[in-house]
Amino acid sequence: MSYTKKDFIYEGKAKQVYTTEDPNLVIVYYKDDATAFNAQKRGTVADKGEMNNKISTLIFNYLIEKGIQTHYIETLNEREQLVKKVDIIPIEMVVRNYVAGSMAQRLGLEEGAKSPVTIFDICYKKDELGDPLINDHHAVLLGAATYDELKLMYAMTDKINAALIDLFMKANLILIDFKIEFGKDSEGNIILADEISPDTCRLWDKDTLKKLDKDRFRRDLGEVSEAYHEVYNRLQQALKK
Ligand code: TMP
Ligand code: ASP
Repeated sequence: MSYTKKDFIYEGKAKQVYTTEDPNLVIVYYKDDATAFNAQKRGTVADKGEMNNKISTLIFNYLIEKGIQTHYIETLNEREQLVKKVDIIPIEMVVRNYVAGSMAQRLGLEEGAKSPVTIFDICYKKDELGDPLINDHHAVLLGAATYDELKLMYAMTDKINAALIDLFMKANLILIDFKIEFGKDSEGNIILADEISPDTCRLWDKDTLKKLDKDRFRRDLGEVSEAYHEVYNRLQQALKK
């Protein structure tokens, strides 16, 4: 059966979501739009939608092979994916293997040191509040997740982190940190949702430490589109090995 976009449901900063012929499936359309700092900075990055669709496709297929339950069904064309419809759990799960970004700022640390422990930060997905950093108790207070659901999400995230570190290492990239989101499918299962791409990961070249991710846009470092192409090319090669 082939699926097509029916009604527009939702527009996020980097993607649009449409209904399909099947009420349990939606089509995600990847845009070239880029935002940073809670959408205070806006722009577009040439080919970003296409690259993120392709990169996310490679990564979701790889994680599915590793036994991770995800929303991913299939890639329909250069910008569209068919995925399971989920209710997104309003928590951004951030994993940090190295010191960078907002944690470096918050704790007054320099970027680039390997953390002796894997750091899990959770943020409450609420644009009006700027996605504040919260803890497990806040998540339960907010009704975002139960303690059992959080436990499951942390366990899945740990497994995803280990798998992604390995994958990116084969692409000569250091996975500095990343953000993932989970959703509940129609049967109530918690599954990995959203996307995994240079929009949602910090990826540094292993030899030169060159940033090959959205920090090039956030920090006006130039060669943004080139970085996304580079990550896609390297992942394709890595997955052939
Ligand atoms: P941070 O250092 O700004 O907190 O970001 C941590 C990681 O999460 C980084 O890889 C970028 C990613 N991220 C998102 O995917 N979406 C966001 O809205 C933010 C703030 C970060
Ligand atoms: N995408 C986020 C925003 O625009 C932030 C980021 O990725 O830096 O708010």
